[in-house]
Amino acid sequence: METKTQPLLRIEGASRIFRMGEVEVPALSNVDLTIDRGEFIVIFGPSGSGKSTLINLIGGIDRPTTGRLWYNHTELTKAPDDALTNYRREEVGFIFQFYNLVPTLTAYENVQVATELVNHPLAPTAALDLVELTDRMDHFPAQLSGGEQQRVAIARALAKKPGLLLADEPTGALDLKTARRVLGILQQLNTNQRLTVILITHNPAIAEIAHRVVRLVSGQIAESKINEHPIPAEKVSW
Ligand SMILES: Nc1ncnc2c1ncn2[C@@H]1O[C@H](COP(=O)(O)OP(=O)(O)OP(=O)(O)O)[C@@H](O)[C@H]1O
Ligand SMILES: [Mg+2]
Repeated sequence: METKTQPLLRIEGASRIFRMGEVEVPALSNVDLTIDRGEFIVIFGPSGSGKSTLINLIGGIDRPTTGRLWYNHTELTKAPDDALTNYRREEVGFIFQFYNLVPTLTAYENVQVATELVNHPLAPTAALDLVELTDRMDHFPAQLSGGEQQRVAIARALAKKPGLLLADEPTGALDLKTARRVLGILQQLNTNQRLTVILITHNPAIAEIAHRVVRLVSGQIAESKINEHPIPAEKVSW
């Protein structure tokens, strides 16, 4: 008999309504989603469809208006603020479109700052080695290419040894060749370390590298599709 293991993440009936004075903006409506450890999920959908709102709930940056979320055995929707902060700090690695590096710190220091907040970090040099950037660790962000800056941001996320890596349009500001390299790193981490990756994009070409593509339309899951044959990142094209 097949035994079903505990999913890494479970979302049940999550909605997020933003109140703007008299107006209510329903950014997410009744989302159900279960993610297993080791999955590479792409969340795909047009601008304004609720992708960032969803990833902010998953990352513990925000809470749903209604509905429930669990990470392993912990119900995040019942967690007090300090526990949610701890979850976000210890378990979740974030990567953003515009890298969000501190301009006055070197690559090494940008990674080091992140390691100071967590309990069992990787050494900054080890994290930078994972993205093949030890030879650039004394460079400031302005002395790095866009792709290198994003790799520093990945190293910063990895240095906390996250249980979950969330990437919001991580290649949105990169050219195709550089994007392939960044996506390749994420794919390798997923394959080699079974790191769970949730990547947001509105680029359909990128969806092809995922195990599963969850398509959002107007705050709802319109489709959740398994990719039988995910393509390697170096084959992505647009
Ligand atoms: N803090 C907020 N306050 C009010 N409305 C918000 C807030 N954040 C998002 N929204 C609204 O919720 C909807 C979903 O926004 P979200 O940022 O999740 O979209 P998205 O799919 O990430 O879009 P994009 O691809 O442009 O980043 C949008 O209509 C947006 O205007
Ligand atoms: Mg967004």
